[in-house]
Amino acid sequence: MKIFLDSADIKEVKEAASWGAIDGVTTNPSLVAKENTDFFELLKEICETVDGPISMETTSLDAEGMVNEGRTFVKLHPNIIVKCPLTKEGLKATRALSSENIRVNVTLCFSANQALLAAKAGAYFISPFVGRLDDLGTEGMQLIQDIRQIYDNYQFETEILVASVRHPLHVLEAARIGADIVTIPFKVLDALVKHPLTDRGLDQFMKDWDKLPDSIKRPPSIDARS
Ligand code: E4P
Repeated sequence: MKIFLDSADIKEVKEAASWGAIDGVTTNPSLVAKENTDFFELLKEICETVDGPISMETTSLDAEGMVNEGRTFVKLHPNIIVKCPLTKEGLKATRALSSENIRVNVTLCFSANQALLAAKAGAYFISPFVGRLDDLGTEGMQLIQDIRQIYDNYQFETEILVASVRHPLHVLEAARIGADIVTIPFKVLDALVKHPLTDRGLDQFMKDWDKLPDSIKRPPSIDARS
């Protein structure tokens, strides 16, 4: 399963990229607005930091506007994926952009039927929002299971990009179901790394190592020079 970072914060993108842990980046207008910086410069910097799909969302509400924005985005960098909302206009734009070989991430998906329509329109990625469904008391991960089954039943090539991820359990469940990608906020990525037994184990290793005198810990090359 590929892991994307769900962030427009360039510091987070650089840090996550330095761990070798991310395969791409997703953004949305809310994440970009938080940065309050030049949109296209930010996009360029993200593309220069991570060599993988970088999703940027259109903000037009009509298909023509989305298509025009999409065409502009992809001129900036070949890794850019155009994000369109799962509306009738978004589906029209997906169909038009995909017929020009421009890759589209159809976002704001909340039902399996919506995911089916997006695949038929030529979506490259479908982004079902699990956390927002959980927030309403609906099982978000059941949606991932349903989409996986439907896409497999009919051999749709659209990749399932699990979005609106809130905690490490969402990542584990997405991987068990066989989602193609999960996009996660930096704090969830950070939580994936951490384990109290790792910290405790490392602490004990260091304490035991420190008990040895320096004279028996020197590497042979240092001994040879002295
Ligand atoms: C990513 O593509 C989505 O825009 C994002 O995961 C939404 O997450 P949220 O529900 O936490 O805002």
